[in-house]
Amino acid sequence: MRNPFQYGGVVSGQSFCNRTQEAADLRRAMENSEKWFVYSERRMGKTSLIRKVLAELPEEQYLTVYIDLWPTDGETSFVLACAKAFSEAMATNTDKLLHTAKTFFSRLVPAVTTNDEGKPIITFGFDQKRPDVPLLEEVLAMPAKAAKKEGKQVVVVFDEFQQILEYESDIVERLLRSSIQHQTDVAYIFCGSRKHLIRQMFMDSQRPLYRSGAHYPLGLIAEEHWQTFIDEKFTATGKGISAATITALCQLTEGHPFYTQHLCHPLWELCDEGEEVSSAMIGQATQLLLDRESYAFMNLWESLARNPRRLLRGLATEGPKVQIYASEFLRKYQLGSSSNVQRAIEVLLKKDIIDKEEGGVVIPDRFFRLWINSKQGA
Ligand SMILES: Nc1ncnc2c1ncn2[C@@H]1O[C@H](COP(=O)(O)OP(=O)(O)OP(=O)(O)O)[C@@H](O)[C@H]1O
Ligand SMILES: [Mg+2]
Repeated sequence: MRNPFQYGGVVSGQSFCNRTQEAADLRRAMENSEKWFVYSERRMGKTSLIRKVLAELPEEQYLTVYIDLWPTDGETSFVLACAKAFSEAMATNTDKLLHTAKTFFSRLVPAVTTNDEGKPIITFGFDQKRPDVPLLEEVLAMPAKAAKKEGKQVVVVFDEFQQILEYESDIVERLLRSSIQHQTDVAYIFCGSRKHLIRQMFMDSQRPLYRSGAHYPLGLIAEEHWQTFIDEKFTATGKGISAATITALCQLTEGHPFYTQHLCHPLWELCDEGEEVSSAMIGQATQLLLDRESYAFMNLWESLARNPRRLLRGLATEGPKVQIYASEFLRKYQLGSSSNVQRAIEVLLKKDIIDKEEGGVVIPDRFFRLWINSKQGA
């Protein structure tokens, strides 16, 4: 029998838990052609949620474009990723794809191939004979033109938007700002993780996209929804789990979607058909996961200097509400001065090991936290 818990990729259908309110909020934002920043810590379910909402929009009214910026590293790859996504959103067959690409992008030379499933895939090269046409502007103008041409509302999603902070210049950010302001028939959803970066992008008055959209932090999934979701999955596969066990599990994962599904996966394996999960199995499942991750965690740990390690120990032991600059904390974890803490924070933020939260910092990886605690004194 197939394990009903999925973790890692985008989830949909039966594997998608709740998010009713969030989906309705996003849907409304799309209907009203708003500009939104959706952000959260990693693996909170942004992509799954956005893709679900996009898929539910009626095709005859909406043109939806989803662009993953993860593989992009600058203006050129941004332009190519957009051109490809826009063209593919507008056309399903080869001829139309070529026609669309030629109509909208004067300096790009399209070529179409088909993939293994026979679906047309477009690639672009540059027309060196026409260097005068500003590429980025042309690409960014496309959604509004497409809305007009097709008589549809357009929704553009930029996923992994924090990636544009890695670009050499802020030209993409600047031009995005001016172009989205005028596109009243186009909804823009900027979606990303590394919370502090995304936030900085639209709350820092020095940055081009400052206040150019509403912000929507995506939160955890509440225990009541996990209760139904997890119970149904066990019951449907002839296994049992009590409400109290689900509560204990959710306390460990805090209802974070990825960690909850990840922990449910071995828990389901440990439980035989016709049996009920015992509370000891949660400990076993957790240990199994920590063992699996231990090599990666150990490497990460060994890459860190003494103070970042000490700060992590303190955070893992005391929890996110602890006052990391208080003299008691500095003493207990041998951090010396608050400037040492400051430097350790900078290192850990840069490596994405911690994240800033209201009033403090957290280690978002629940398993890394447990692993650190299990290695105390090591
Ligand atoms: N609504 C949901 N119901 C159940 N599980 C979910 C849900 N959303 C996310 N998950 C779990 O979290 C995992 C990550 O989801 P997803 O890739 O959508 O998150 P993300 O925030 O886009 O991640 P990243 O930060 O890596 O881009 C999924 O594989 C799944 O296990
Ligand atoms: Mg994602």
